[in-house]
Amino acid sequence: MLDAEVRPVPPVLRDCGTARVPPRPIDRGRYTSPAFAAREAALLWPRTWQMACRLEDIPEPGDYVVYSVGPLSFLVTRVSPTEVAAHVNACLHRGRMLREADGHATHFRCPFHGFSWNLDGSCRALVNGWDFPHVDLQAFRLPRAHVATWGGFVFLNPAPEPEPFARFLEFLPAHYATRGWDLGARVKAVHVRKHHRCNWKVALEAFIESFHVTETHRSAMTYLGDAMTQYDVWEGCRTTRMISPRGLASPNGPSLSELEVFRAGMRPALGDRADRLDLPPGLSARAALADMRRRALLAEGLDVADVTDCELIDTIQYHVFPNLVLWAGWGSYLVYRFLPGETPDSCTMEVMFLVPVPEGRTVPVAREVTEIGAGESHAAAPQLGGFAAVFDEDMSNLAALQKGLHAMASAGPVTGLVQEARIRHFHACLDAFMAEAGMAEAGMAEAGMAEAEPRA
Ligand SMILES: [Fe+2]
Repeated sequence: MLDAEVRPVPPVLRDCGTARVPPRPIDRGRYTSPAFAAREAALLWPRTWQMACRLEDIPEPGDYVVYSVGPLSFLVTRVSPTEVAAHVNACLHRGRMLREADGHATHFRCPFHGFSWNLDGSCRALVNGWDFPHVDLQAFRLPRAHVATWGGFVFLNPAPEPEPFARFLEFLPAHYATRGWDLGARVKAVHVRKHHRCNWKVALEAFIESFHVTETHRSAMTYLGDAMTQYDVWEGCRTTRMISPRGLASPNGPSLSELEVFRAGMRPALGDRADRLDLPPGLSARAALADMRRRALLAEGLDVADVTDCELIDTIQYHVFPNLVLWAGWGSYLVYRFLPGETPDSCTMEVMFLVPVPEGRTVPVAREVTEIGAGESHAAAPQLGGFAAVFDEDMSNLAALQKGLHAMASAGPVTGLVQEARIRHFHACLDAFMAEAGMAEAGMAEAGMAEAEPRA
């Protein structure tokens, strides 16, 4: 397909991940057991880099976002025009959470006794300071997580000595240096948080394979080459990718003419009007779909004249360990973030649209998150447009998947060699990460004990 492109193909599209992921079964307890969730709470979230918010969520000094995962909570704060900090969201006096929702502040005043903290985390004022002669004000500062930014995202890592951020990003900066892909130049125009009755990994894994399209998204199989998807796993890397081609009928369905595929591919945008379209002479369904997309984006003032068909219509999607999914190119502007809920049987999936901004225009930032309850349809967030129906189709599996994983009498899911390689790879990375974190933790405990021992 890349060889059929008439425009220059970005090298990253030809860069294939060739690692084979051995077909190991996945223990179902990883999704259902409180002990496994507790292990993640102890070894994964306190140690991994994780996306906390967008820079455009906190444009002005004093703007902050509450980022919580499991028992951890941080105030991701714009301290100054050039500094973002992630303070532990707990008053150093009695431990009350300082803020429970996003907002703007000149300082953080604890609602319990009124101790207050400057934006940089230093102590602004004690209350009845005469009662705290034992507190060293200089040292009485809100602890911070490490913070780094890439692609307009703010990432944080709570570990005292986190892995270098550049190592965490792996090849992402190189791939997203592709012309037009820079996520830092895009703006978060939609932000929805959907509550699901399943483990966060169950939800994540339902979105990093196209295998389920034929059964779950039946109408899309007429124009999506689900079983032709390329799954990229790179040796020694945690980040994976898939590229699902559009403008081809699924090989799992009846064979369709190019005209039928073209009309089916335009149906999500045009509805029944798609049936009156004709295929421009000499164009494949794929080229015609890309042409429609290219024209629409050019009309919006976006510079896509030289962009390949692949980047315009295919799903190019990266999974960034552990819980972030980024799309690339111009097909869809989606970002997903998956976070654990209060039990292994619940989670949230956030959907964001990071939209490109035509020159000289501005796009309003969605700083407020639209919440959708576990029993509610995605239609409750009209800003999702046509995606609401697709996400509802995905949702129809999730709670039943979680229940089935509890009920299953076998060891756990069996996955396809190619189409579900990313899922197995994710579990292998999760095991490796937690094993290393566990050893580091044990090492620290040992060092701590050695220190506590009296010296001869
Ligand atoms: Fe899906």
